[in-house]
Amino acid sequence: MISALLFAADLPTADSLSVFDPASPPAYSIRELFWLVLGITGFIFILVEGMLVYCWFRFRTPRQGDDGHEPPQIYGSNPVEVAWTVAPLLIVFVLFLLVTRTVFDVHKIDPPEGALEITVVGHQWWWEFRYHDPDDPHRRIVCANEMHVPVDRPVFLRLESVDVIHSFWIPRLAGKMDVVPHHTNVLWFNAEKAGLYQGQCAEYCGNQHANMLLNVYVDDDSTFNKWFENQKQPARTEPVKEDLESFEAGRDLFLKTACVNCHTVRGTFAKGTFGPDLTHLMSRKTIASGLLLNDPQHLHDWVDNPQATNMKPGCWMPSFHLTQKEVASIVNYLKELD
Ligand code: CUA
Repeated sequence: MISALLFAADLPTADSLSVFDPASPPAYSIRELFWLVLGITGFIFILVEGMLVYCWFRFRTPRQGDDGHEPPQIYGSNPVEVAWTVAPLLIVFVLFLLVTRTVFDVHKIDPPEGALEITVVGHQWWWEFRYHDPDDPHRRIVCANEMHVPVDRPVFLRLESVDVIHSFWIPRLAGKMDVVPHHTNVLWFNAEKAGLYQGQCAEYCGNQHANMLLNVYVDDDSTFNKWFENQKQPARTEPVKEDLESFEAGRDLFLKTACVNCHTVRGTFAKGTFGPDLTHLMSRKTIASGLLLNDPQHLHDWVDNPQATNMKPGCWMPSFHLTQKEVASIVNYLKELD
């Protein structure tokens, strides 16, 4: 438990998650709408409550000359009826106009000029990001859980789900958008500052819903281009950390086990798409959708038994009951996939 807390302390965390600290045009629009609506409704609240409190005190005891009769009734008074029907209608109409304006600000059906286009696929319980390569539309550039985008450039997302309804939400960048099976929703943002922006699946989607963290790294242009060039490459075929023999032994074991049914490693025949693409696994800081630090120890524990209580019980990856030696061998291969 203590070690789990220590590891948790090392996980990348954003400075702020607050909708009141926007960093992208849709998030600014949403904050502006919030304050406007709060202002209008707050004013009405104070007016009505103020009159109520005033009447409590002003009329709390019978006044001199009060003969105990009811005051004149206003039932059926046309001016009063019209006033308290029209005033709320006008207020609702103003709110409607404000909301409509914000919806048009926030929602774009087509990608803005020069936008980076990414398809986001919600899975139980992780996120897949498919990038579109302008140079080669057939190239598969897929990563998981950690999205990289350039600073100050529009990003246009198409949101899809392969199982249940999820919800994509990065509070500082844009509003919530449902991620629905058999239907594509869209979302855009334009981050004004580099840094880490975090969010979370915002629609209950099963037992590991709470562990569907979203990490969006907004990079300066050169960092982003470097990252993107690396993601385009197929997986490493020669080790840089381990010796060649243990690298090849690990790779052969990986390719012989059920790993390949669910995971892709581009450049090998592992082409599964049920689980995260592992081609550049080590370019990610976390595994298990932001739950665990991506280091050899956590990789080992994960490959050994993802169902352990300190891992992600209930997730769709089973324990394959490999020996500790086999697990270590597979991790020797995985930790080279940078
Ligand atoms: Cu996905 Cu909640």
